[in-house]
Amino acid sequence: MEIRQVGVVGCGLMGSGIAQVAAMAGFPTVVREVTPELLGKGMSSIERSLAKFVEKGTITVGQRAETLRRLKPTTQLTDFAGCDLVIEAIIENLGPKREVYASLDKIVKAEAIFASNTSSLSITEMMTATKRAPQFIGMHFFNPVPLMTLVEVVKTVVTDPTVIETALTYTRQVGKTPILTSDRAGFIVNRLLVPYLLDAIRALEEGFGTIEDIDNGMKLGCNHPMGPLTLLDFVGIETTYYIAEILFNEYRETRFAPPPLMKRMVMAGMYGRKSGKGFYDYAEPKNPKPNRMLER
Ligand SMILES: NC(=O)c1ccc[n+]([C@@H]2O[C@H](COP(=O)([O-])OP(=O)(O)OC[C@H]3O[C@@H](n4cnc5c(N)ncnc54)[C@H](O)[C@@H]3O)[C@@H](O)[C@H]2O)c1
Repeated sequence: MEIRQVGVVGCGLMGSGIAQVAAMAGFPTVVREVTPELLGKGMSSIERSLAKFVEKGTITVGQRAETLRRLKPTTQLTDFAGCDLVIEAIIENLGPKREVYASLDKIVKAEAIFASNTSSLSITEMMTATKRAPQFIGMHFFNPVPLMTLVEVVKTVVTDPTVIETALTYTRQVGKTPILTSDRAGFIVNRLLVPYLLDAIRALEEGFGTIEDIDNGMKLGCNHPMGPLTLLDFVGIETTYYIAEILFNEYRETRFAPPPLMKRMVMAGMYGRKSGKGFYDYAEPKNPKPNRMLER
């Protein structure tokens, strides 16, 4: 199936990036938010990102203008009727997602593909809110979408093989590299990354080293761009906690269980960079200091 027009539901952090890369690749793209204010905010972040690409010489001023022309911002789901592919990137909550899919199912043409950008929810559970199960797939982009090149394409037990092929092709058309996986919690990346991050917290709890020694161990010893505790502060400790709980509930294996220190940090509002305090203190954001209260 050929994708000619794309729809993106949600124009937050991820939706704005997903709409931007679609339009940059030449697809007329409808993008929906719930209010004109949120839509304006999302479109401004697309404009800022495109301006940076122009500054760096990645795209020309003309290409920026063409990209913006291809984007149709809207607050109406009815504008998705003619889309061939609809990618949903709204709040990570099953109820609202199922509601959006049930509404879209009645509006969007029958042969169109629905994709979710969920990080942790079941694609199969969202799929059952529609009557187009074989045309439902996961497309998990990474943040920031315009820069990160990976997309996890997630098939269910009933996805039509031609739909999988179309999703893989579309991913390449927007300049990304797809990896194919099945609908299981965490997909490939979080299935591997989350136990590693949880283990770094356990190493801290058990007194294996200071915060900066644990981070430097993986940075300098394994050439990771940042240590696990710094990465946790970036991603958000409460976000990772939430994903760990989902993985633990799915697999019932202790390696996915959030360690007690992590739970205490979440309860205390220490979410990492976004709250100013996590494994590091961000009072001076350019010079974070290890939070010694967490060390043994
Ligand atoms: N943040 C990340 O690093 C990341 C990475 C990969 C995947 N994801 C997934 O992407 C999805 C979106 O995450 P985000 O970080 O962009 O969240 P976000 O809060 O930045 O954006 C979500 C947006 O969806 C809008 N929205 C809510 N209901 C809507 C509806 N019915 N129609 C249209 N818009 C609606 C909200 O107003 C909000 O602006 C989630 O499923 C999340 O798990 C996030």
